[in-house]
Order: sequence, then structure tokens, then C-alpha cells
Amino acid sequence: SSRINVAIDGPAGAGKSTVARKVAQQLGYVYIDTGAMYRAVAFAANRAGIPASGAARLAELMKTIEIALEPGPDGQLVRLNGEDITTGIRSREVTLQVSEIASHEAVRVKLVEMQRQLAAMKGIVMDGRDIGTTVLPNAEVKVFLIASVQVRALRRFQELSGIEAVPIEQLEKEIAERDRSDESREISPLTRAQDAVVVDSTELSIDQVVAVILDLCRTKT
Ligand code: C5P
Repeated sequence: SSRINVAIDGPAGAGKSTVARKVAQQLGYVYIDTGAMYRAVAFAANRAGIPASGAARLAELMKTIEIALEPGPDGQLVRLNGEDITTGIRSREVTLQVSEIASHEAVRVKLVEMQRQLAAMKGIVMDGRDIGTTVLPNAEVKVFLIASVQVRALRRFQELSGIEAVPIEQLEKEIAERDRSDESREISPLTRAQDAVVVDSTELSIDQVVAVILDLCRTKT
């Protein structure tokens, strides 16, 4: 059977990364978390003291930073100019700023280019917001993964348990705000590709979602 590319898009907290990682494992493919790349830029901007609105300075920053994704012991490792920032990119500070950072053209142009190169050899499962529409419009399998905002907030709440105590209502508001921002930006907004299959995970387990996607892949390989 031949190698294909699998694009998984959808709003924040729909379970894309967990599902994409498992699908990749099952297929013996490489998983690429594009959100981690945008988070790495937000992290770098923060450190350089560049506000999320600073288009010109962000464009300059993009020329000087090197972002790398590599397999690590507990999943994907993210490096910024060689430094391991895997944990740092998950901070709330980064999470609250990343959507505005990701709205800038200079940021997207460079990351999309990187993502296309990573997928050129096929055998990739990539998750994000614009993979099926912009990054890999020819991906053999496209999934648009959704879930109710309540379920997504609950999942984030459980992920954060023991790490940070954020009220679930607050998480719900932040997720809804990030959705709005990702859906309304001018360049590559979050939207379903016409040929993407919508999978609603509100009442499905992770393994059920993985099974649905593997079925879609089986028909294409
Ligand atoms: O997937 P994750 O929630 O980690 O992504 C963080 C943010 O990065 C998203 O809210 C979105 O603003 C941005 N992003 C994007 N395009 C992608 C992946 C992520 O704009 N392909």
C-alpha cells in the first residue's frame, strides 16, 4: 500500500493532537503538530519582548529563529534555536497570545513553507487549523474534528488538573475566544475544507475517533 498524507484540522481542544499521534502510530507515520510551531513563535516573541500585535518586529524575528520538531521520549520535542522549549510552549501566557501571533502573514508564510517540506515525502499525519485548506490541499485524507465547547473545556480542565487551577467557565470563555479569533482572521482562517470529513468527538472516545480516521485511511492506501 502507498503512503498518504492525513490532514486533521479543527478548533482548540477537540482532541486533534491525541488522535493524530495515535493515528500516526498505527500507520507507522510521522506526526506533526503545527500548533506547536505557532506556539514556538509566540514563545520566541515573548522572550524577545515583542507584542503579539508587532507585525514588523515579528517579521524580523522570523528571519532569525530556527524552529525544529523532533521525536522525543514522550512524544514530539520542540526546539527554538536548539533549545528544548517543549514544556514552555504550553504555558497559559503562550496560549493566550498564540492566536494573534498566528494571524501575521510573515509568521504563516514561513511556517507553512516548513510544513510543506516536512510533508513532501508523504507518510505524515499533520494537525492544525489550515492543513486541509492551505498547507496540504492535496492530502489524501482530510478530517475536520469538532466537539462542543463544553466538552473541550472539560478536557482542558482535566489536562490542567494538578498543574494549574483555572475555573472551567474561564477555560470555556478562553476556548470560545480562540475559536473566534482563529475563524475570523484574514489569512488562512480556521475553516473546513470542502472535501474534509467532519468527525464530531463530543460523544466519542479517543479510540473511536482514531478508528473512524483509520477507516478513512484504509480506503485511500
Ligand atoms: O493546536 P494548538 O491549539 O496548539 O494551536 C495553537 C494556535 O496556533 C491556534 O489557536 C492557532 O491560532 C494557531 N495555529 C494556526 N494554524 C495552524 C495551527 C495552529 O493558526 N495550522
